[in-house]
Amino acid sequence: MMMMAVALLLVLHSCAAVVTPAADFDVTKVSFDDGFAHLFGGDNLVRSADRRSASLTLNHYSGSGFISKDMYEYGFFSASIKLPSNYTAGIVVAFYTSNGDVFKKTHDELDIEFLGNVEGKNWRFQTNVYGNGSTSRGREERYLLPFDPTIEPHQYSILWTSGHVIFYVDDIPIREVVRSDAMGGDYPSKPMSLYATIWDGSAWATANGKYKVDYKYEPFVSDFSNLVLRGCRVDPIQQQPDSPRRCAEANDELTSADFALMTPEKRAAMRRFRENYMTYSFCYDTKRYPVAFPDCDIVPSEQSRFSETGSAKNSRDRRRSKRQSWKPRARRTNRAADT
Ligand SMILES: *[C@@H]1O[C@H](CO)[C@@H](O)[C@H](O)[C@H]1NC(C)=O
Ligand SMILES: *[C@@H]1O[C@H](CO)[C@@H](O)[C@H](O)[C@H]1NC(C)=O
Repeated sequence: MMMMAVALLLVLHSCAAVVTPAADFDVTKVSFDDGFAHLFGGDNLVRSADRRSASLTLNHYSGSGFISKDMYEYGFFSASIKLPSNYTAGIVVAFYTSNGDVFKKTHDELDIEFLGNVEGKNWRFQTNVYGNGSTSRGREERYLLPFDPTIEPHQYSILWTSGHVIFYVDDIPIREVVRSDAMGGDYPSKPMSLYATIWDGSAWATANGKYKVDYKYEPFVSDFSNLVLRGCRVDPIQQQPDSPRRCAEANDELTSADFALMTPEKRAAMRRFRENYMTYSFCYDTKRYPVAFPDCDIVPSEQSRFSETGSAKNSRDRRRSKRQSWKPRARRTNRAADT
């Protein structure tokens, strides 16, 4: 009986894996034209015919990028992104929030950066957090993507509230940064814009610059759709008198939304992702930071995989066989863990 129940669960389980598309948070999408503006790269930014989405191209003339029209004080930022295929070493596709244009010396930033790939290997990406110009205290984490991100779009999200930051890949939270007094100004707290860019990062992106962009394979095209900009819109220079009240309300809304709730299931899914796919963490890099930062949550099951340089001990790229096991739904992944 037990066996049958388990077998049935497994069957249901694998069916669900087939029909479930990439995560789609229950949030209103904004059209490209309503939410965003051209940042750089001329014709290398191409809007879709319905003006809802856009593609960014890197070729030997230029990269390209777009920026949200408004700045936000806390928010939920999300996009379905399809990364360029074929040989993409050296290419950086970045999806991030920043206010570096407004606060040159004290800027805040939250990053998701895709770091190209060498054919046949998993794509890598990293997340990072800066607050109030903490550029000498990088908080990088790097991971392998468990799927091929060039075949179909996947949803990537950054949640930023007054209390915590969560990075998502589909609906799996992969990193949470909880604000604490000890973190001080290093926690981003000033209004930020959302950016998406593609550029030539030959100097460092892939295997520390060992593999460079090869323009024989251009153009490199990255698609952005299902764009989400949710948060309190503010002008950081001309503070509107009603903005404190408006933004407090918006922050309450964000904080109580489902993407902000860390259920035990989501925590378990996050832990599993990190145990399987994280390849570097500043928290375990004791050479660089002998004393771990206050926001570091030292997890023994993670830490045992890392050397004193913060890199996973067996961080040779895995082949894509892992891809099949990617389960975008947190609750389903959790059930797998319970069995
Ligand atoms: C941010 O940095 C500036 C300049 O270093 C400093 O005066 C200010 O107190 C800092 N703010 C926070 C919240 O730490
Ligand atoms: C990869 O690039 C090469 C050279 O440009 C091209 O011949 C080939 O069709 C590309 N493959 C794919 C899957 O796009």
